[in-house]
Amino acid sequence: MEKLTVTPWEVNGELNDSSYSKLVEKFGVDLINDNLISRINKISKGNLHPLLKRKVFFAHRELNLVLDDYENNRPFYLYTGRGPSGKMHIGHLLPFTFALWLQRTFNVNLFIQMTDDEKFLISGKEKNEIEKFTNDNILDIISLGFDPKKTHILADYRSAKVLYYYATDVAKHITVSTVKAVFGVNDSDNIGKVFFPSMQITPAFLFSALTGKKMRCLIPYAIDQDPYFRIARDVLPKLGYYKPSAIISKFLPALQGNSAKMSSSKTESAIFLDDSKAEVKKKLMKYAFSGGKDTLEEQRKYGANPDIDFAFLEYSFLEEDQGKVDRIYQDYKSGKMLSGEMKELAAEKISEFLESLKTKKEKMKDRVGEYMFDPEKIKLYS
Ligand code: TRP
Repeated sequence: MEKLTVTPWEVNGELNDSSYSKLVEKFGVDLINDNLISRINKISKGNLHPLLKRKVFFAHRELNLVLDDYENNRPFYLYTGRGPSGKMHIGHLLPFTFALWLQRTFNVNLFIQMTDDEKFLISGKEKNEIEKFTNDNILDIISLGFDPKKTHILADYRSAKVLYYYATDVAKHITVSTVKAVFGVNDSDNIGKVFFPSMQITPAFLFSALTGKKMRCLIPYAIDQDPYFRIARDVLPKLGYYKPSAIISKFLPALQGNSAKMSSSKTESAIFLDDSKAEVKKKLMKYAFSGGKDTLEEQRKYGANPDIDFAFLEYSFLEEDQGKVDRIYQDYKSGKMLSGEMKELAAEKISEFLESLKTKKEKMKDRVGEYMFDPEKIKLYS
């Protein structure tokens, strides 16, 4: 069997239920149980985000402590990020719809880190190319509707002065052998990779550092990012801060099935945010991994498996009417609905989403400044 490797810089091997179970055990994270779900459901007044409902966000670290804080009116904040290595596709954007939902549900501040430095260090891309992606990705992200007063984008090169100051505190508590063991770094790697994790850990306490108030941080991330935050949980208490809490997702469903992450290197491998309606439809029809059966007869008789069906899953993430999603799920599973129909429906929903995003993106172009990290804005929360 192919060996399973999951680090922030390398994902290899089949990703199925059993590999996720292995990761949960290996990384030492907890599964999100019904009790936690019902607590969050109550706080969100029954508006559970579909990524939680469908258990794409499936694991956590000390999420209960954050909910305790919320219920006791103690402030906390959110932190997530994106490595700007290319154009964004819908698989990249969905976690940000989740971060947005968290921000709205809890009404809290949010850091979004753009790790342009990381992408420079681990890829062969030029800085100017990465900078273009950084700017374009920021626009895509803020177009989702984040609150400019409470959303702070840390583009590493631009925010380096503040980040670096605190990152050295982190770096002082991490040994080279830890980085080698956790990230798979070896002696022939460049030394930037050894230091970089301190940059990604810093936002997990930056709000507390700048305000002088000890505050908990909740980080939504895909499980490949866990190494950073495992180390963060070790280091932060040594610096006088709380261990960061985490809400952790599986990899998002990929257009052509989930044996690997949805990749952005090939155009037919994903649905990009600037794809036209016709392209979306074509990609779904031609490439989308289907949970349906091979023949019409079998499909009618046995039904589809919606849980692994790209079209159904995307539809379920974007459709706000969860009652409608539940009905489609039943119809598709029972064989009443066919794969082609499912794909049509998903194509409509996805195109609708992309169209509205395009319009918003145009309007956001001269508002980016409002979202960029400014330490003075954070200090107002002192
Ligand atoms: N390293 C991440 C990536 O390559 C980006 C990132 C930075 C991030 N900080 C984060 C992701 C916090 C999740 C949470 O995509």
